[in-house]
Amino acid sequence: MNVLPVLKVNDLTTRFHTSYGTVTAVDGVSFTVGRGETLGLVGESGSGKSVTAMSLLRLVSNPGRIESGSVELNGTDLLSLDEEAMRRRRGTEAGLVFQNPMTALNPVFTVGWQMREALKAHDRGQAGAQAAIHKALSDVGMPDPERQAASFPHQMSGGMRQRVVIALAMLNEPQLLIADEPTTALDVTIQAQVLDLMKKLTRDHGTALLLITHNMGVIAKMCDRVAVMYAGEIVEEAPVEQLFADSRHPYTWGLLRSIPRADHPRGQLPTLPGSPPDMSALPTGCRFRERCSFAVERCKTHPSLLAVAPGHLTRCWVTQDGKRLGAVERRAVEDAGNLEDQAHGR
Ligand SMILES: Nc1ncnc2c1ncn2[C@@H]1O[C@H](COP(=O)(O)OP(=O)(O)OP(=O)(O)O)[C@@H](O)[C@H]1O
Ligand code: SF4
Ligand SMILES: [Mg+2]
Repeated sequence: MNVLPVLKVNDLTTRFHTSYGTVTAVDGVSFTVGRGETLGLVGESGSGKSVTAMSLLRLVSNPGRIESGSVELNGTDLLSLDEEAMRRRRGTEAGLVFQNPMTALNPVFTVGWQMREALKAHDRGQAGAQAAIHKALSDVGMPDPERQAASFPHQMSGGMRQRVVIALAMLNEPQLLIADEPTTALDVTIQAQVLDLMKKLTRDHGTALLLITHNMGVIAKMCDRVAVMYAGEIVEEAPVEQLFADSRHPYTWGLLRSIPRADHPRGQLPTLPGSPPDMSALPTGCRFRERCSFAVERCKTHPSLLAVAPGHLTRCWVTQDGKRLGAVERRAVEDAGNLEDQAHGR
């Protein structure tokens, strides 16, 4: 998709300085997300997806520090703004949705009250606030928005609460939505509804969506492009079809090949043999080398992320030299999502 980037991340590095050493959680990460586009961010637990998301909106807390890079939102580098200017941009230009809706909702206030606060907090004034709130609730498919606005979060189901969080995130019509495992805690029917809803919002409002998920079925269904993270780095980035049909990184390829399997918990990536490196003592060569069946002598030095086809980048010496790894059917990945659901009686 040839679109102007809403979000342009360049060489972002975030570290945690802890008593047991320095953890490099995000290491030189670059990507863009265009208007109306969905970029998936995938990778196993601890690979740096959430810290990347938090870094974009400068929400990393101590002992974490963004050490270098730039995060341009519509051409403004967020990392160079003062805290007050940054606060104003959160929620107006960029919305955030996390896995657990209760972390974003205050149990002691009604949904309508919280939505009015979100409007107020961004200087939109009172005029039309009620109408905007009802519209946002109805956009996320909430029946009877007036009644829902008067409800407290605990009076709603998990799926309803997550819709409220999305309505809150979309209230000021941000150009960027960052969603970190937004449906993992939901049952599969509601999960599908919430994903459809996010897809509709990106279409209707042209919102750029950064979608973090463990689920390759969700990636197949939702994304235009995919970035794969491993040990703090992006190791492959490609248009979604190309990733499935012609993956050029052994880690991605291994993940896709281990699907379908009905024996891993829903929403989890399949596990590959071995474990990722210690993020406080990263190896000097390719970070995937210990687990890679394609490794050669050259892999003892660290590969760069390079283009191997238009829009297709990989961080692998062997595929950069022209080796192909073989196709995985996108259908098989989507079927695997269904298979997992069947295995869990959903
Ligand atoms: N507050 C913290 N202090 C120290 N290290 C941290 C902190 N938060 C995250 N990390 C480390 O940063 C790395 C990246 O974590 P992150 O939460 O981004 O992973 P993730 O890809 O989102 O994983 P998951 O799929 O489990 O959500 C991990 O090694 C983690 O241990
Ligand atoms: S660079 Fe070498 S070790 Fe790393 S993924 Fe490629 S083949 Fe495997
Ligand atoms: Mg995470």
